[in-house]
Amino acid sequence: MKILGVETSCDDTGIAVVEITGNKTPRFSILSNIVSSQVQIHQKYGGVYPMLAKREHEKNLPITLAETLKKAGVQESKPNIDAIAVTVGPGLSPCLWTGINFVKKLSQQWEVPVIPVDHIEAHLLIGLLQQTDEISNFKIRISKQIHSKFKIQNSKFLFPAIALIVSGGHTQLVLVKEIGDYRIIGETRDDASGEAFDKTARILGLGFPGGPEIAAAAAKFSISNSQFSIKLPRPMMHSKDYDFSFSGLKTAVLYDYQSRPKKERESKEYVQAMAAEIQQAIVDVLISKTLRAAKEFGAKSIILGGGVAANDELRRVFEVKLQTLPSSIELLAPPKNLSTDNGAMIAVAGYFNWLNEKYTKNFDSLEAQPNLRLAQTI
Ligand code: KG4
Ligand code: ZN
Repeated sequence: MKILGVETSCDDTGIAVVEITGNKTPRFSILSNIVSSQVQIHQKYGGVYPMLAKREHEKNLPITLAETLKKAGVQESKPNIDAIAVTVGPGLSPCLWTGINFVKKLSQQWEVPVIPVDHIEAHLLIGLLQQTDEISNFKIRISKQIHSKFKIQNSKFLFPAIALIVSGGHTQLVLVKEIGDYRIIGETRDDASGEAFDKTARILGLGFPGGPEIAAAAAKFSISNSQFSIKLPRPMMHSKDYDFSFSGLKTAVLYDYQSRPKKERESKEYVQAMAAEIQQAIVDVLISKTLRAAKEFGAKSIILGGGVAANDELRRVFEVKLQTLPSSIELLAPPKNLSTDNGAMIAVAGYFNWLNEKYTKNFDSLEAQPNLRLAQTI
């Protein structure tokens, strides 16, 4: 079957066509996956303004759809799409509604059902796919396109798993007993980890989104050549629960920044040293809590998802630490361009909902759920 996935929960308009073949071991071919990023617009303000993002989604959706169908080799006027998956939450209400209303019209026009998808579950499930052929990833202007084939790994060796979902809006640790059976065991009490990257990048005068900017500046830092030795707190790293808190980190960065003469704090050396320490502090906290949870719950794998999962240092340190453990735990992380918001992850999550008959042609039941929660907290 072919599923169209539509993502508009925040500032990326993502549409993809994913073809699923095989029943017992489903194979997923991402026929096209186009993301129209609104980065340039939100860069000006250093954050995402919901009404501005909604307007951009309205503009982008028809253009992105046409491009996606063309790229997938699907006829635009009468596409052979079997269902449309759409993010219903969590996210920004006006943005979610824009995607939902767009999909309602398409579904009527194409006479296919709509599959509601939880954005966080989509970030989690895309990490379960294993790449089976080479990925060709190229950028066109502000779009990303991917061609690849995936299959689900043998679930016996994956679950229970601990999923670390780290994005601009969320930081959650989830116990995954199997697909569809989730318990949130910890989450942020204030800022999300992606938000911490974004806000500290802004203090340092770097661009938006902050994660890739901080990562790039940090990569240029070398301890031996630097006059700076900055130490930031690792908030809640040793607390007994699995919760996080990142707002203190932002405050610590601001205080350090303000305490220095203008010339010094605006120097490349300072920005790079600070970026490296911000990244290290976030990575330390995320990894420490995730590994403790993996141990406590006897996890066979750790699943990374969300935009921050695209961070090279986070992946590298995870791999290193996992190798020192007595029992083997596999790290499952999607290719970087499937970590950040995209339509393919919505189509993939949609497929699992479809299997569980969670789809509808009754549009009254289809509404935005800005505060949707993956599962009960324990
Ligand atoms: O999942 P996502 O695309 O959107 C949300 O659902 O929020 O995540 C966006 C977040 C932003 O905060 C961005 O700064 C962060 O992911 N991010 C990164 C990297 N790439 C994106 N953070 C750290 N390192 C990266 N390479
Ligand atoms: Zn996301």
